[in-house]
Amino acid sequence: GSCGEGRVFTEEQEALVIKSWSVMKKNAADLAVKFFLKIFEIAPSAQKMFPFLRDSKVPLEQNPKLKPHALNVFTLTCESAVQLRKGGISAAKETTIKRLGASHLKYGVLDEHFEVTKFALLETIKEGIPEMWSVEMKGAWAEAYDQLVSAIKAEMKPSS
Ligand code: HEM
Repeated sequence: GSCGEGRVFTEEQEALVIKSWSVMKKNAADLAVKFFLKIFEIAPSAQKMFPFLRDSKVPLEQNPKLKPHALNVFTLTCESAVQLRKGGISAAKETTIKRLGASHLKYGVLDEHFEVTKFALLETIKEGIPEMWSVEMKGAWAEAYDQLVSAIKAEMKPSS
C-alpha cells in the first residue's frame, strides 16, 4: 500500500472478494446464522458480550439481532478490500473505524475474539461457495479482514 504500510493488496484479490460476496449475498440470511453459530461453537463465552443474547429467551439461531452483525462483518470486510486497493482503510473510512474501535472496546471484544471470528468467517465462505473456493480466495478474504481488524484495534485504545 501507500505511505509505507508495506502490505500489498492486489487487483486480483479485490476481484475475488467482490465476486464471491456478490454470490454469497443471495444467501445472506443463511450465511449470517451459520457464521455466528460457528463463532459461538468455538467460543461459547463470546455470547456474553452481546447484550441482546444475554437476556434473550429465544434460541440463539432464531435471534433476529444476530444477523445484522454477521452481515456487517461481511460487508465491511468486502469494503475493506476495495479501500485497500485505494491506498488503505484507515484514511478512507476514518469515522467508521473510530466508531467500531470505540464500540468494540466497550463491548469487551479481545484479540482472541477477532481470531475466532476470522476462522469462522473463512469456514463460512468455504462452505458457502465451495465451487469458487481456493487458496487465493482464502488469502484475499483473510488479508482484507486482517487489515480491517488492525485498523479497528488501533482505535481500541482506551481514551487517555
Ligand atoms: C457491534 C462490526 C467483530 C462483537 C458491531 C457493529 C458493527 C460491527 C458495525 C454495530 C455497532 C457499531 O457500528 O459500532 C464488526 C466488524 C468486525 C466485528 C466489521 C470485524 C471485522 C466483532 C467481534 C466480536 C464483536 C470479533 C466478538 C466476538 C460485537 C458486539 C456488538 C458489535 C457485542 C454490539 C452488539 C451488536 O450490535 O450486535 N460490530 N464487528 N464484533 N460487535 Fe462487532
